[in-house]
Amino acid sequence: MHKNIEIKNIEKSYGEFQILDNFNLTIPRDKIMCIVGSSGCGKSTILNIVSGLVKPDSGDISNIDDKLISYVFQEPRLLLWKSAKDNLKYVLKGKIDEKNLDEYVEDWLDNVGLSDYKDFYPRQMSGGMMQRLALARAFAMPSNLLLMDEPFKGLDAPLRHKMIELLQRLWENDKKTIIFVTHDIQEALLIGHRVVALSGRPAEVLDNIKLNMPIKDRKIGCTKLNRIQGTLYELIEKGSLGVNNCKIKDKYCPPIGFDTINKNMFNYH
Ligand SMILES: Nc1ncnc2c1ncn2[C@@H]1O[C@H](COP(=O)(O)OP(=O)(O)OP(=O)(O)O)[C@@H](O)[C@H]1O
Ligand SMILES: [Mg+2]
Repeated sequence: MHKNIEIKNIEKSYGEFQILDNFNLTIPRDKIMCIVGSSGCGKSTILNIVSGLVKPDSGDISNIDDKLISYVFQEPRLLLWKSAKDNLKYVLKGKIDEKNLDEYVEDWLDNVGLSDYKDFYPRQMSGGMMQRLALARAFAMPSNLLLMDEPFKGLDAPLRHKMIELLQRLWENDKKTIIFVTHDIQEALLIGHRVVALSGRPAEVLDNIKLNMPIKDRKIGCTKLNRIQGTLYELIEKGSLGVNNCKIKDKYCPPIGFDTINKNMFNYH
């Protein structure tokens, strides 16, 4: 049976820097888990370990073997010598019926607003256009685990909104497991079934919040989201200053006060 992905006791160091020390996290299957945390805390390292691109020093990840993974990297990582259309065709060949491939690729280019640029090469595109091409490539790929590393950075507000809606639609249709890394807490609260806040190095889970409000009902500026946004911001700020989970409870960092948050919306675990 299709199970939650379990990240267990992961250790990872680069030279003298320990990035992950006995790191544990459950990734709920068929849900969107957002990860927020300060720059350099290890978010991309976690995605790279989950994807198998980086080997941990120890620990393991279970229930990942049956996963077909697609990955929006932190940088677009496009094939510079191929056009927008060919970048998609290259990864989709053999995965989508050949006779439907052109139409499928054009639909995805259209979804990210790149129909008019299908013959452009990456060097002819803006940063945001390349990012959208990378998004189309990951969305179009038949997968059951989608890893997204700050996927909407560099997009203006209307485009970002459109991409959030596209992701929501994709999830409604496919119900795939998604791990979504972002610096934008508001984005995480609009998208995530769970939002995990990480501390600075070594990364520790400061909080893991379950949001019960249906994603389609979440609106920017809504009071409930604003409240939790402030709380998460405070947590991450403290985490990035090296204040760990237990110290948050000490006299310098009084308890965060989640009991004031509407329990129907947020299950606090
Ligand atoms: N290949 C590598 N070699 C050496 N150090 C690395 C390597 N990859 C990452 N690091 C270090 O590991 C730490 C975590 O990096 P990572 O990219 O995971 O952070 P991040 O949370 O994704 O940051 P950001 O939000 O800025 O993208 C950083 O201190 C970084 O310098
Ligand atoms: Mg990163």
